[in-house]
Amino acid sequence: MDLFLETQNLTKTFGGVAAIFNLSFATRKGSVYSVIGPNGAGKTTLFNLLTGIYKPTSGAIRFAGSSIVGQPPHKISRLGISRTFQTPQIFLNMTVLENTLVGCHSHGTSGFFSAAISSPQSRREAARLKEQAMENLRFCGLDHLAQRDSDALPYGELKRLEVARALSTKPKLLLMDEPAAGLNDSETSKMGELIQGIQKLGISVMLVEHNMALVMAVSDELLVLNYGEYLAEGTPEQIQKNQKVIDAYLGMGDENDDLFD
Ligand SMILES: Nc1ncnc2c1ncn2[C@@H]1O[C@H](COP(=O)(O)OP(=O)(O)OP(=O)(O)O)[C@@H](O)[C@H]1O
Ligand SMILES: [Mg+2]
Repeated sequence: MDLFLETQNLTKTFGGVAAIFNLSFATRKGSVYSVIGPNGAGKTTLFNLLTGIYKPTSGAIRFAGSSIVGQPPHKISRLGISRTFQTPQIFLNMTVLENTLVGCHSHGTSGFFSAAISSPQSRREAARLKEQAMENLRFCGLDHLAQRDSDALPYGELKRLEVARALSTKPKLLLMDEPAAGLNDSETSKMGELIQGIQKLGISVMLVEHNMALVMAVSDELLVLNYGEYLAEGTPEQIQKNQKVIDAYLGMGDENDDLFD
């Protein structure tokens, strides 16, 4: 598989403290690549760097062969990187379908909402975007809820709506920040199947997640971060046997205890 997303000596400091320090890694096209590490390890900061929300203090980021450092978030989105958020970024006053359409905007030639009141061409465009949004909702098991107000959704569905919205930009790479946080066992296994389904569509996935059973089940490769620094990289089997990882995880809180279950 080709190298897809690469960082070299990536560093981000806040007030002199490094949240990410000298981090180099590379993912492969088509893979599920997970980033694990204790609370505060720098996982969300890494996603904010990769999506252009933060500018690195130093270092390089390449996506599909081109540097993306210094590009604004909407350009990086157009290049094919989309994300879900640790805390769902859903508009609670909109319907499920409307939330999914928010993601479609960057791919329409005219905006969906203005399109609805103008030319036949833009009305066709609006219909096409709506059909795409419905397809993404179907894929995420939410199509029967399309007209529901988003604030009426149970948390498991809200987390899947995050995914449907992120898929609407037609990403080549989807960054998922703790998609299973707050989910019960059956919702978590649905999320696992959804991640595998996304990979089957040909979309590469980068996953940040504390649920180790889920991570070990879906990942091709893992990166372990410790205080913002590279600790180890490898397959689930390699990581579970890695002495540095075992040592770093010993004595951590309950949330991280299931690494070796
Ligand atoms: N905008 C910011 N300003 C100052 N410090 C920040 C900022 N964003 C992150 N940090 C710091 O960077 C470090 C890494 O935080 P980050 O949110 O990336 O961790 P995380 O691995 O995602 O943790 P969690 O598993 O709890 O979500 C923390 O010490 C955090 O306080
Ligand atoms: Mg985080």
